[in-house]
Amino acid sequence: MNIRESTASAPGKIILFGEHFVVYGNPAILMAVNMRLNVYIKVIHDGNKIHIQSDSRKKIYDQINIKFKKDKLSFFDPIIHTCRKIFDQEKIQNVGLNIKINSDIPNGIGLGSSGAVSVATNAAILSIFKKPNKTDIFLNASETEKLIHKYSSGADCLISTVGGLVLYKKNQKYRRINYNNKFSFLIIDTGIKHSTKKMVEKVKKFSERENERFIKIKETANQICNDAIKTMKNGDEIGTGLLIRENHKLLEQIGISNVVIEKIIKKTNDAGAFGSKLTGAGGGGSIISLVPIEEKERIKKRIENQGYRVFPVIIDNQGVLIKKIVR
Ligand code: MEV
Repeated sequence: MNIRESTASAPGKIILFGEHFVVYGNPAILMAVNMRLNVYIKVIHDGNKIHIQSDSRKKIYDQINIKFKKDKLSFFDPIIHTCRKIFDQEKIQNVGLNIKINSDIPNGIGLGSSGAVSVATNAAILSIFKKPNKTDIFLNASETEKLIHKYSSGADCLISTVGGLVLYKKNQKYRRINYNNKFSFLIIDTGIKHSTKKMVEKVKKFSERENERFIKIKETANQICNDAIKTMKNGDEIGTGLLIRENHKLLEQIGISNVVIEKIIKKTNDAGAFGSKLTGAGGGGSIISLVPIEEKERIKKRIENQGYRVFPVIIDNQGVLIKKIVR
């Protein structure tokens, strides 16, 4: 086999409106952000071995003899599953891979690092064997993501694949949202890592235990999402900020906020944000805050002085990029 290698990159994300409810068929507004994860893949002549290395870990897998623990996948397991699946699809035998991952998306804080790994890995491996389109990449990546948490709505993989600002509903075609460029956001890291799988399971239990209440909350979340499309199109920062605050209250009601999240949200809102909410799975992770552009630096410093990491972000409009292919 000739030298074959490829590099792909995918952006992180935040969920502006509708996380968790999207798992139950509601719409969500998703935004890709300018933080990226890169995956480099090279076909090697080392039997069926996969050598894999990230910024912090390194491991060698033997594809033929791997045994995955059913309920506890290790960090690289979803990637190895992906390799095996694509090798099966493409009827590839007896080749190995060298995989290197580096990322500027912080891990485990709700910014879509796991979705971006799935998207960039699928894009890089698929592009070695064929010319994949974004639909192929999204569908493959969503399958990988379902290994990590089986109720995954696919939201993280979709936005990491297509980029921009989109309205998304599970199993439906996404819609791009026109937005006004003056919207300015800060992401604040609560410093508490979370497991998306556990938080999704927690909400599932809440929905079963308090079904009627959950249905009502879900209806309100749906309305907030529809209203937000209009306020964002109109460049209405005050209106969008109020909807962000309302959306957060719903997330608090379904039990995924905590004292640290509440404290940071109060501080950013008191400092002059239009609105702030937890973003993604909750239980820790990150907060997204819509701020007046001219106040961005001041609010950022104020929150950093409290000991939190703050990332000013803009929308990434590119989505997944296949950067280099040698076939
Ligand atoms: C996680 O980023 C978003 C959730 O809504 C889960 C999902 O959509 O699969 C919490």
